[in-house]
Amino acid sequence: METYRIAAIGGDGIGPEVVEEGLRVLRHIEKADGTFSFQVTSFPWGCEYYLKTGQMMPPDGMEQLKGFDAIYLGAVGAPGVPDHVSLWDLLLRIRKGFDQYVNLRPVKLLKGAPCPLKDVKREDIDMIVVRENSEGEYAGAGDHLFPGTDREVVLQTGVFSRHGCQRVIRYAFELARQKGKTLTNITKSNALNYSMVFWDEMFREVAKEYPDVKTQSFLVDAASMFFVKDPGRFQVVVTSNLFGDILTDLGAAISGGMGLAAGANLNPEKKYPSMFEPIHGSAPDIAGKGIANPLAAIWSVSQMLDFFGKPQWGEKVLAAIEKLLEEGKYLTPDMGGTATTSQVADRLLTLL
Ligand code: NAI
Ligand code: MG
Repeated sequence: METYRIAAIGGDGIGPEVVEEGLRVLRHIEKADGTFSFQVTSFPWGCEYYLKTGQMMPPDGMEQLKGFDAIYLGAVGAPGVPDHVSLWDLLLRIRKGFDQYVNLRPVKLLKGAPCPLKDVKREDIDMIVVRENSEGEYAGAGDHLFPGTDREVVLQTGVFSRHGCQRVIRYAFELARQKGKTLTNITKSNALNYSMVFWDEMFREVAKEYPDVKTQSFLVDAASMFFVKDPGRFQVVVTSNLFGDILTDLGAAISGGMGLAAGANLNPEKKYPSMFEPIHGSAPDIAGKGIANPLAAIWSVSQMLDFFGKPQWGEKVLAAIEKLLEEGKYLTPDMGGTATTSQVADRLLTLL
């Protein structure tokens, strides 16, 4: 029997609450299917751990995670710990250390999910955003010189390598080809005259290998306007780290909100574990109340199943989320309901 090893890092605030429900979904599927199993190990890392130990994870944390097939992450962040510490010392350490260079975010409006856009058909919001996740504007390259003096200078340098651009663009082309979809390239090559001009060049180079995939290109400002005005233009989208970060929050807003949005950080070659997470934060304002929406965390379970080569289960989980939304009876307060976190998951398991 195939066994998938999963490292669960609940993190802080509502992170552990929603991860627990996602793990219930995995256990349910393991039982229902019977041909594979999950071996889950939990790690207590995050900000609370930091407040006790001075570190977000132990010094050999990456070593401990290396042998897993996937990491299932809740959220990190707590009042009292600077956000750049929690982000850089846990999340980004994992994303960078495990070369998770693809950030994959579905932007799909499910039946029954709330959408703030008028005049847009539900079917028109159905895209996958492939965000570069290892370099670009978030490479962390720069300097802060002469702090506190009147010569003070800060430099934040974008890093765009041939290897880094081509591999993520190629991943997007493969995805578009496999799904029979168009691919949209989003940059800003009029203003960013080195980095984005280069990215566009890399895009054109890789495109030659995929004459069967229909492509289009937009500048990021125009693309954000079309995300709102005419999202049907987009199917598979590929873009840089910063633009992808912003566009996918916009994508989340038009496809049901933060309570539903999930993201996968992939190392497609499977040399290292990939990481699956809801994109919302630790929501300290509602933590401990049992009312966090678990659907985003459960959607990331669906992405994990796809990645394990079980798309039939990935689709079933998504279909169960969709049915639950259509019923509209078991929803947490953020979606206008009165159900608790575990009541939502209970209903989802029934539908599954
Ligand atoms: P947030 O996403 O935690 O919360 C924003 C708002 O959405 C809050 O009102 C919250 O109650 C609500 N919300 C979020 N997820 C929800 C859910 N599943 N169900 C119901 N309501 C939900 O973002 P915020 O407040 O900016 O950040 C809080 C902390 O989380 C910070 O420390 C931040 O650094 C961290 N954070 C961590 C992320 C991660 O681990 N990937 C991502 C974003 C923020
Ligand atoms: Mg973000």
